[in-house]
Amino acid sequence: MNARGRVGLVAGTLLAMLSSSAAGQERVVTNPARARVDYMLKCQGCHQPDGAGNPANTPPLRNHVARFLSVTGGREFLVQVPGVASTDLSDDRLAEVLNWSLLQFDAANVPQSFKPYSSTEVGALRKRPLRLERMSVRETLIAAIEEMSAKQHRK
Ligand code: HEC
Repeated sequence: MNARGRVGLVAGTLLAMLSSSAAGQERVVTNPARARVDYMLKCQGCHQPDGAGNPANTPPLRNHVARFLSVTGGREFLVQVPGVASTDLSDDRLAEVLNWSLLQFDAANVPQSFKPYSSTEVGALRKRPLRLERMSVRETLIAAIEEMSAKQHRK
């Protein structure tokens, strides 16, 4: 493929990515372009550009992260994990990048009733970050998520 073809292909892919996610995001994310850049600068080093994470040390956001919203304590957890709570973004930018990540990587699992994180909520939660206990908190939440989806399959 020549250079122009390659540029065209990249532009086409980017456009498809943007339009597939734009509809839902407008409602929830004030400035998706800014959120994307914040994610690139503050999160993707660990979570990867496509939210896939790294099997060795970072959980995937893709097709998973929004499941936490459906179990008790999960909404708080998503702000209190250290990578989120301690990032050097203001409360409103952090709320924005979190809302953006949920829709960008896991729209299908965002509950109908989801209320976007506000900067006030994020500001209060990040003052109480999880430390070492985050592993056990996470395990408990994952168990609740698995139980919930097992129930849904049995229905
Ligand atoms: C230094 C690597 C690193 C960075 C940077 C980072 N994270 Fe994480 N993230 C992790 C790890 C590791 C976990 C698993 C929980 C833990 O051990 O802290 C996690 C957990 C999460 C979770 C909870 C989901 C789960 O499955 O546990 C969310 C949501 C999240 N990160 C979003 C973000 C966002 C948004 C940013 C950028 C503002 C970010 N992270 C920056 C490494 C990172």
